[in-house]
Amino acid sequence: MVASTDPELNPQAFTSALLASAGNDSCELLQMLHALQLQFNHIPQASISQLSEALSLSETYIRSVIGFYTFLHETPRGEYDILFSDSITDHMLGSRLLLSDLCDKLGVERGVPRKDGRVTVDTTSCTGLCDQGPAILVNGRVLTRLDAHKIQNIALLIENCTPLDEWPSDFFRIENNIRQSNLLLSHNQCNGEAVQKCIDNGADKLLEEIDDSGLRGRGGAGFKTALKWKFCKEAHNGGTNDRVVVCNADEGEPGTFKDRVLLDSQADNVFEGMTLCAGIIGARQGFLYLRGEYLYLKPQLEAVLAKRRDKGLLGKNILGKHGFDFDIEIHMGAGAYICGEESSLIESLEGKRGVPRKRPPFPVTHGYLQKPTVVNNVETYLAAACIAASGSEWFRSVGTEESSGTKLLSICGDCEHPGIYEVPFGTSIQQILDACGASDVQAVQVAGAAGMTIPPEEFERSIAFEDVPTAGSFMVFNNERNLLDMVQNFAHFFVHESCGFCTPCRVGGALMKDLVDKLTDGKAGRYDTDEMRNIGLLMKSTSHCGLGTTAPNCVLDMLDKFPYIVEEKLAHHASYEPAFDLDEALQEARDISHRNDSRAHIRTDT
Ligand SMILES: Cc1cc2nc3c(=O)[nH]c(=O)nc-3n(C[C@H](O)[C@H](O)[C@H](O)COP(=O)(O)O)c2cc1C
Ligand code: SF4
Repeated sequence: MVASTDPELNPQAFTSALLASAGNDSCELLQMLHALQLQFNHIPQASISQLSEALSLSETYIRSVIGFYTFLHETPRGEYDILFSDSITDHMLGSRLLLSDLCDKLGVERGVPRKDGRVTVDTTSCTGLCDQGPAILVNGRVLTRLDAHKIQNIALLIENCTPLDEWPSDFFRIENNIRQSNLLLSHNQCNGEAVQKCIDNGADKLLEEIDDSGLRGRGGAGFKTALKWKFCKEAHNGGTNDRVVVCNADEGEPGTFKDRVLLDSQADNVFEGMTLCAGIIGARQGFLYLRGEYLYLKPQLEAVLAKRRDKGLLGKNILGKHGFDFDIEIHMGAGAYICGEESSLIESLEGKRGVPRKRPPFPVTHGYLQKPTVVNNVETYLAAACIAASGSEWFRSVGTEESSGTKLLSICGDCEHPGIYEVPFGTSIQQILDACGASDVQAVQVAGAAGMTIPPEEFERSIAFEDVPTAGSFMVFNNERNLLDMVQNFAHFFVHESCGFCTPCRVGGALMKDLVDKLTDGKAGRYDTDEMRNIGLLMKSTSHCGLGTTAPNCVLDMLDKFPYIVEEKLAHHASYEPAFDLDEALQEARDISHRNDSRAHIRTDT
């Protein structure tokens, strides 16, 4: 067979084109691998060899990068590569039944490409569409609100080899479901107003305005934004003035989808906030790190960036200010929750495996390529732009003393109106439940799998950094639900997403998952629940990064706040019981040795 010379079909020609446009820069490795995966539904060996030679990286190294990211594969996936979102709220909407139905209809085993290479059906961590699940990705494109009828249609479309572009367009409809707007969602498009203020009033004045607003990071940790920008501005690491602005749009926390909606509806103001930050700290390079699941947003985001370049809001001499040069590139993630952690994200931006760095030094002094780097969440940049345009007083007019402004929540689960709610900080959980139409609530999981499980007696607590902090996830569980399903889903999630670098998280997480499975199977005793607590506390105190320190939260909350879940499932209350039936496991040996007398049994009742 003669190899095609069409770069679209020929891996070597395609890889050469990628290398040429990346200028053989190894920081672009992940982006090139992502493009190869989309083009050939795997990374061909020929491309690995070519990348290795051109980038002076060993093939083993390139393989280790491929192996790190869930969306990259060395062996071909099906021509239709289907991934079911595996969030607990997708499960609650029936995703597991739909998955097995689709596997049956297509005659395919989960995770294994069909023999004819046509299709693969598998799962992936939360796709950020929990308000309109069950959701799937097909070759990177998102389908929402699946039901039995759609599954039937999808199976037919695949059997008929119908190209994705010819599938019914309403399959791909994604809703923003904005239910409640406040300061940010009802703010006008800034159109350069924030950047102009930075030019007119000076960087120091604008930094003071952000400081006065009390803005704190919206990505989880709540660090003061002005302080972070100040540290970066003042960093003169190795005498460099080359600073970097990064927008963290990895949004992998299960149940969080507000950044998706912001990037769809407010991208211009988000980029305005990044440009403002660049003006204040003196950065020339900017990145939007977009999670692989949101690939569909990339073309429209590129269009917004192009428009901003046309208007002189990006590029050289921004708004005519000599020497104010700044531009933004979009980098894609490839299915790794840990890459939301800022130092992993920077590693990933450099084209590497997303393993968290040792800190200090922090990114503000040693970030992307060791340059001083600000990493902020999408919502933080949006808020900064609006504050620059409308003033710190305007922002402080809502919220609490320690938590000024509003918070965007992504609400899903058992409620009538799932979607995006922008609430003033200080709003109580009960008020939020009333607003989204939730009743008979057993628990709310705030801040995702890494967050807190809140029982009804705490529903008067409020969303605020000083009380219940959250990056945005708000999942509602009514009294019909078995909360252990949620705990089990999260325990499996953390094992899947642990980068494996440190022992407490890698091993502790796996042990924890096994114990949760044992409890779910009704085989756990007190010994096991004590072990859960010991392991959880050890993970919290000794893990290298925030993933490991927060992973046991849901198990510890279950033990402390929902003891009835554990009591109902405990097999016995005293000693240790193995997770499997040892006597049953010995049956094969007894059969082989033809011994079935009572002394060949462990159990005395046999
Ligand atoms: C495991 C893990 C995942 C994270 N994922 C995200 C994320 O998806 N988006 C985000 O903005 N921050 C995420 N963070 C927090 C970031 O490390 C960082 O604190 C944040 O981007 C800073 O922005 P902010 O100050 O605007 O909140 C994550 C942290 C950890 C430990
Ligand atoms: S805590 Fe987990 S995710 Fe973080 S470095 Fe250790 S193994 Fe990796």
